[in-house]
Amino acid sequence: MITRRSMAGAAGAGVAVASLQARAEPGRRPLPKGFLWGTAISAHQSEGNNTNSDTWLLENLEPTVYKDRSGDACDSYHRYEADIALNAALGFNCYRFGIEWARIEPSPGRFSAAELDHYARILEACHAHGQTSIVTYNHFSAPRWFAERGGWEQADAADLFARYCGRTTERLGPLIGLATTFNEANVQLLVGLMGKSPARLEAERAMIAAARRATGSDRFSSLVYSDPAVSQPILLDAHRKGYQAMKAARPDLPVGISLTTQEIDPVGEGSLAEAMQAKLYGGWVELAKTHADFVGVQTYTRLRFDRNGPVPWPQGAEVTAAGYEFYPQALAATIRWAHQAIGKPIYVTENGIATDDDSRRIAFVEQALDGVRRCIDEGIPVHSYLYWSLLDNFEWSSGYGKHFGLVAVDLETFKRTPKPSAHYLGQRARLNLL
Ligand code: BGC
Repeated sequence: MITRRSMAGAAGAGVAVASLQARAEPGRRPLPKGFLWGTAISAHQSEGNNTNSDTWLLENLEPTVYKDRSGDACDSYHRYEADIALNAALGFNCYRFGIEWARIEPSPGRFSAAELDHYARILEACHAHGQTSIVTYNHFSAPRWFAERGGWEQADAADLFARYCGRTTERLGPLIGLATTFNEANVQLLVGLMGKSPARLEAERAMIAAARRATGSDRFSSLVYSDPAVSQPILLDAHRKGYQAMKAARPDLPVGISLTTQEIDPVGEGSLAEAMQAKLYGGWVELAKTHADFVGVQTYTRLRFDRNGPVPWPQGAEVTAAGYEFYPQALAATIRWAHQAIGKPIYVTENGIATDDDSRRIAFVEQALDGVRRCIDEGIPVHSYLYWSLLDNFEWSSGYGKHFGLVAVDLETFKRTPKPSAHYLGQRARLNLL
C-alpha cells in the first residue's frame, strides 16, 4: 500500500498567516457576506470500497489502465464527520461532495434507505459545522448494473438517471444547499480535444473488453471510456431530465451543471482555438441556459492551438505534477467565458493543482484568487471558490501518486495532515479576503 507523508505540520498555520500579510496587495479586500469558500471531493475518490460501481470493476481487472486500486481510498465513507469538521476548522464555509449512485440504487429500481440515511447524516454534519453543502449526483462512477446494460450509450439511461435524481432529492433535498447533476458533463469532449495516444486507446479498449468478459455483457460501457458521439446526446438528455426530477422533488433547490472549463488560447494566424472552444462545450451551453440555475466552473490550466492542432506550453513554462502547464490565470478567463456564453450565476466548483511542492499550491491559489477578484470587480456574479481537493485522494487512472489536496492522507492510518496551503486558503476564507 502506498503511504503519503504529510508535507507540513499544524505549525503551517502561522507561516500561512504571515505570508498572507506579507503578500497583501492593494486590490485585496473583504467580500460581502455570503461568498462560499471551500473545498471539493467526490464519492469514488475519497469514500473507499465503492465495490458496486463500474469504476471499481475496471480498477480490479486485468488488464486495466488504472495504476492503483481505489481500495479504502481516504475512508471518508466512515470519516466524513472528521473531514467536515476539519473543513470548518480550517476556516471554510462550504463543502462540496458526491453521493454515490452505486450505493443508493444497488440494483435497478431498488433504492437503499440505509444509504440515503448515510448521506442524510453527512448533510446533517454539514449543517452542524456551518457548512453550505454542494452535492454532486454523478461524479463519473455509476452502478455496475448500469454499466452492464450499456451505461450512457443506452437511450433510456437518461430516464434511469432521472429516477435516481428524483428519488434521492425526495429524501435528501430538504437538507441540501445546492446540487449539480453531473460533474464535468463535458469531460469526454475535453479528452477528445487533447487526444489520446494509440497505446492508451488500445489499453482502454483491452480493459473494456476484459470488463465485457468479466460481466458477460457485450454492452458494458463506462462514461469516460464511452463513445462521445453516442453518449453525449444521452448525457444532455439525462441532465435535462435529472434537473426536472430534482426540481419536481424540491422546486427551490438550486440545481446547476458543472463543466470542465479550460482556457483555450490561439497561437498564430488561422488558429483552431475558436473551433476547439465550441467542441469543448458541445450542447452544454445551450442546455445550461434553460436547465441550470448556476454554472459550476472547473478550471486547471489552459490549452493552446495553432492552425494545425494543439501546441505545447511555451518553452520554460512551469509544469504541474499532473503534466500540464501551471497557469492559474486560466480561472479568470473561464469565468469570463461562462458569464458571456451562458449568463448564469457562476460558482467555481473546482480549481486546483497537483504538486508535491506546497509553496507552488499557495502561489497557484493566490493568483487564481486575484483573477476571481478581478472578475467580481467587472460585475460578474461569482459566488464561490472551491479548491480541489480537501484531501489527497484517488486520482482516477493515475492512482494515488498525484497530490491535489490541501490535506495529506496516510493511506494506512487515514491520518489527515493539513499542509501550509490549507491554512493559507482557510485564513483567506476566514477573513473573507479576496
Ligand atoms: C475532476 C476530479 C479530478 C480533478 C483533478 C477534475 O476534472 O472533477 O475528479 O480529480 O479534476 O484531475
